[in-house]
Amino acid sequence: MEEKKELLNTGLRGITIASTKISDVDGAAGKLVYRGYLAKDLAGKVSFEEVVYLLLYEKLPDKEELKHFFSLLSKERDIPQQLVSAMQNSPKDALPMDVLQSAVSIIAQYDPDIKNTTREGADRMAIRLIAKFPTIVAYWDRIRNDKPLVAPNPDLTIAANFLYMLNGEIPDNDLTHYFDVCLVLHAEHSFNASTFAAREVASTRAHMYAAVGAGVGSLSGALHGGANTRVMQMLLEIGSIDKIEDYVRNILETGGVIMGLGHAVYQTDDPRAHILAPMSKAMGERLGEPKWYEMSKSLELKGKKAFKEKKGRDIYVNVDFYSASLYYYMGIAVDLFSPVFAIARVAGWVAHILEEQFAGAAPKPALYRPESDYVGEYCGPDECAFVPIDER
Ligand SMILES: CC(C)(COP(=O)(O)OP(=O)(O)OC[C@H]1O[C@@H](n2cnc3c(N)ncnc32)[C@H](O)[C@@H]1OP(=O)(O)O)[C@@H](O)C(=O)NCCC(=O)NCCS
Repeated sequence: MEEKKELLNTGLRGITIASTKISDVDGAAGKLVYRGYLAKDLAGKVSFEEVVYLLLYEKLPDKEELKHFFSLLSKERDIPQQLVSAMQNSPKDALPMDVLQSAVSIIAQYDPDIKNTTREGADRMAIRLIAKFPTIVAYWDRIRNDKPLVAPNPDLTIAANFLYMLNGEIPDNDLTHYFDVCLVLHAEHSFNASTFAAREVASTRAHMYAAVGAGVGSLSGALHGGANTRVMQMLLEIGSIDKIEDYVRNILETGGVIMGLGHAVYQTDDPRAHILAPMSKAMGERLGEPKWYEMSKSLELKGKKAFKEKKGRDIYVNVDFYSASLYYYMGIAVDLFSPVFAIARVAGWVAHILEEQFAGAAPKPALYRPESDYVGEYCGPDECAFVPIDER
């Protein structure tokens, strides 16, 4: 009698596949570190541009370096007219992450450095990608809503300029600050699914755009960057605070998941959630509409309690839980939350791609190639005997 093999589905949990100097997630302690700095210490004190510089060049910039870097980024915000035309020809109901992923491949075709394999060429591609992501996302939102495009303003920060291109108005300082903090907190998170996807593609020596396109695809999934959109959809579906208890019990009883709770690495609250939650509260107060923050808070508490009762262990909030209501308060369309995540995370992806391409384990980083465990059938003792199609 043939022995039944155990089916594997490890999700690569607990398997270390490469060394990195970019960031660290300490799941037990609830710590996120960007190149030695706690992300929570950076949030609110440095701009997204400074964090991008830190991720790419391994140090925080001084004033002159930041000024120069800011101007490099500002000059690269425009996107090719051919891409604008392609977006204008896209169906208005196309998923924004699909539009973003397609846009990455299109801008690759117009990048003068695409065949350049030097670090300098890769740095320029990295800057172009980071600079163009906000323009692609904002333009797509305006195109699909039949609104005239708002050209990038080179004097504004990435955060202020994105909101300006999206809404046609320069945001005030508070709004800019909150959005900038969101970008800082979403910039990097070690070997999460999309960064792993980007690094895996980079390990084949494919170019940066191919690797970033893979990152966008991975981030779009509901269990990854797609979760923030699902959190807001869940809040809208529940509708009011008095319905949360029933919703939570029902979802757990039917084997569903409460979006924004749980994490593959953190065994404590995600440290980013503790910064995002007060910002969501403050935005709710500022708009005189505390409902979405209050519902989130109640859902967090009731979800944690019900989960503990059902599974006998704790569950924690992740980054997507409070960013959802915060982006909603900012007037960002619910299906743009994941592209907004991508605007920040592209910085982490390109830092990892650069590390994979230029600073990995000597002499050259290995091509990623894991093993699988074949549990399929053999007709014969070792393999199936081939039978021509007419005789099957
Ligand atoms: C992120 C996520 C995929 C991690 O999954 P994971 O590593 O398998 O989680 P764990 O090992 O801690 O938990 C596994 C168990 O808890 C359950 N669980 C995990 N998160 C849950 C949630 N948010 N709601 C309900 N149940 C949940 C799983 O269904 C599983 O149950 P089982 O043991 O009966 O099969 C998962 O928590 C999830 O789907 N969360 C919701 C989506 C989300 O917010 N994603 C963004 C992540 S930043």
